[in-house]
Amino acid sequence: MSESRQFYRDEQYEICRAQSTDEYRATWWNYMEDQEWNQHPSDLDSYANSLHEKSVILLLDRKQGDKIIGHIGLFAYDNATGWISLFVVDPAYRGLGLGGKLLDAALSDARNAGIKFLGLDSVPAQRQTYSRRGFVAAPRGIIKSLKRPIPDLAEREALRRAVAQDEKRDQLIDLRSISPPFLPKDLIGYESTITGFTRPQLWSEEHMFQRSDIAGWALESSTTSSNATSYDGWVLLRQCSEGFGIGPLYAKDAQSAKLLLQAVMSQPDFEQASADGCLVAEVCESNEATMTLFEGLGWDDSGDYFCRMWMDGNMPSQQTSGGEASKHVFAVFDAITG
Ligand SMILES: CC(C)(COP(=O)(O)OP(=O)(O)OC[C@H]1O[C@@H](n2cnc3c(N)ncnc32)[C@H](O)[C@@H]1OP(=O)(O)O)[C@@H](O)C(=O)NCCC(=O)NCCS
Repeated sequence: MSESRQFYRDEQYEICRAQSTDEYRATWWNYMEDQEWNQHPSDLDSYANSLHEKSVILLLDRKQGDKIIGHIGLFAYDNATGWISLFVVDPAYRGLGLGGKLLDAALSDARNAGIKFLGLDSVPAQRQTYSRRGFVAAPRGIIKSLKRPIPDLAEREALRRAVAQDEKRDQLIDLRSISPPFLPKDLIGYESTITGFTRPQLWSEEHMFQRSDIAGWALESSTTSSNATSYDGWVLLRQCSEGFGIGPLYAKDAQSAKLLLQAVMSQPDFEQASADGCLVAEVCESNEATMTLFEGLGWDDSGDYFCRMWMDGNMPSQQTSGGEASKHVFAVFDAITG
């Protein structure tokens, strides 16, 4: 194995760079199911293949035939912003210091990649682990997991009526109707403006929009300038283990966010979900309008949450206290990608 692939090696364990998503796909999916992180089998390719090929680092047990017993991801976005992700060690190997070594490997990778803003969404139990390595909690940085039952037929009909009566209904665009099917670059720019994440690869046809479980709406702005389309927000929905995940939900104001959320909650494809399936969303405490919006549409706090943290307290200006994110991010895409 070449040096460049390897971060650590002793008699029993090795930490090395993954070569392809197929190498660890089965292990990844087991971990996602065990942790109940509400993923979809296609998410791995959407995340890892879109960002950069070698974005995941593996922990191997050499005495078990190089069995994969843990992984961590460093997702490097375009604008020197990075995200620590997919940090899991097999339960049988926890508490031995291996997770710490894996995390240190990802941090050294982040330094080598020249990442300026390195963030993550921490589970409560690991906050101290990250603090000890220099991560600082973001102001009002709690990301709450909300849930609600999938709307039944009558509820969906009521939601559709509410959408039809909204004065901005004609500005709603079904993202699946766009040809070719990918996010218009103005919407990618909109995300960048309000979050500081620039990630056109993630929102591409190749990595996201060819998935049959993805749906979404954008809201065209009524004050469109002559030479470019501008938007008041966008929302995505995708299938996940428990039903459907909604996020990101980005919007100019609470009214636009409500219209987008109603549109996505009234979508017709829920018949394929299991009877006890639910909708899930990871929403931002920093946006004061968020809880009112979601609770008003029947969502409850599941009690699970993440804490957003940034290395050395350095975060994109959008994510500082009172920054653009606190006004326009209603739900994140996923704690795994920020
Ligand atoms: C997080 C995880 C990957 C750590 O792996 P591990 O092999 O147990 O890690 P280590 O033994 O190296 O311990 C890592 C750190 O966690 C601390 N730690 C270990 N067990 C802990 C526990 N039960 N509660 C809180 N901290 C704990 C250790 O002190 C260590 O900190 P240090 O490196 O600063 O000294 C592992 O616990 C796991 O897979 N958890 C479930 C998935 C998860 O929550 N991932 C984090 C998402 S943000």
